Amino acid sequence: MYSVCAFLVLTLLSAASAQASDCTCPTMKWASCDGTPCACTLLIAADNPLNINCSKLVPKCFLMKAEMYRASKGISTRRLGKPNEHAFVDNDGIYDPECDSNGAFRARQCNRTETCWCVNSAGVRRTDKGDLNLKCDKLVQTTWVQAQLTANPVQTSVDPVALKAAMTQTIQSRYFLDPSYVENVQYFKEDNLILVDLKNPKGDPNVDIATVAYYMEKDVKVLPLFMSNSSLTTTVDGTPLGFRNILVYYVDAEPPTFTMKKLTAGVIAVIVVVVLAIIAGLVVLFLTRKKEKSQKAQVREMDDLQKEQLTS
Ligand SMILES: *[C@@H]1O[C@H](CO)[C@@H](O)[C@H](O)[C@H]1NC(C)=O
Ligand SMILES: *[C@@H]1O[C@H](CO)[C@@H](O)[C@H](O)[C@H]1NC(C)=O
Ligand SMILES: *[C@@H]1O[C@H](CO)[C@@H](O)[C@H](O)[C@H]1NC(C)=O
Repeated sequence: MYSVCAFLVLTLLSAASAQASDCTCPTMKWASCDGTPCACTLLIAADNPLNINCSKLVPKCFLMKAEMYRASKGISTRRLGKPNEHAFVDNDGIYDPECDSNGAFRARQCNRTETCWCVNSAGVRRTDKGDLNLKCDKLVQTTWVQAQLTANPVQTSVDPVALKAAMTQTIQSRYFLDPSYVENVQYFKEDNLILVDLKNPKGDPNVDIATVAYYMEKDVKVLPLFMSNSSLTTTVDGTPLGFRNILVYYVDAEPPTFTMKKLTAGVIAVIVVVVLAIIAGLVVLFLTRKKEKSQKAQVREMDDLQKEQLTS
């Protein structure tokens, strides 16, 4: 009896010490972890440590808040063809978002200023900016995220089918995303480009493709957010493939409502060219008509002359 108790105490102690020495957050290197069992928090504002679950990715909205907070403290910040006609990229960069308690973005964001805009569930602006009166009636779901990854060049040729399997597996193990949400992985040999389509067509709130894309962006563009600094690589037929660039496109359940402001210069140029072409066409038509008419008139004059000559 006594020895069983001693054994139990010993195992408990060793479990506790193992946990204590191992008390870090695998999915978030900025987290502070402490206690038995190990619990982790992330500072998203002064005096606002947020409890996080380190078995999951930290929602993008919380990550952006943490980044803004870290930037304000001078700790560390982020550096800064479309999949379909409605796809758009995040040109605005980071802001201090408002999140709900689950880490979802609020539909309207103002970055603590008096300028507001509506975002999608990935927190990316999808309307023009307005003032504090701007209304965003609901959070529009981002149902499709396309990551355009540029791979580092490799000597061997890459089999697209093997690449798709490897990439899907990497996304599952690294970002905990079920393979059913990895709709497609395409490989373009010429420019070492890999398109990864993540789709959540029904907008399942338990599946956060935007957060996966955000971790991916950090992995490729800056430094991994994971505790272990291991970079994003995928091994295809024994060849490790790393990445040097990433561009993320967002496709929402409803097209964004930006005005065409940014396109204006290009559109005007096209219109000018088209109008010039039409004018040129009209001028040519007019000149040929005129020529034809004058030729006909000349012919008629000749006819009259001949008739006159005959009758005389
Ligand atoms: C953390 O997330 C995992 C995976 O989703 C889940 O199984 C677990 O219950 C969560 N833990 C807490 C404390 O919420
Ligand atoms: C949000 O505000 C910060 C300064 O507080 C600024 O650096 C940042 O560019 C703003 N972001 C957007 C998207 O307006
Ligand atoms: C991760 O890498 C960065 C830069 O290379 C380095 O400063 C940091 O100490 C590394 N962290 C760990 C846990 O290895």
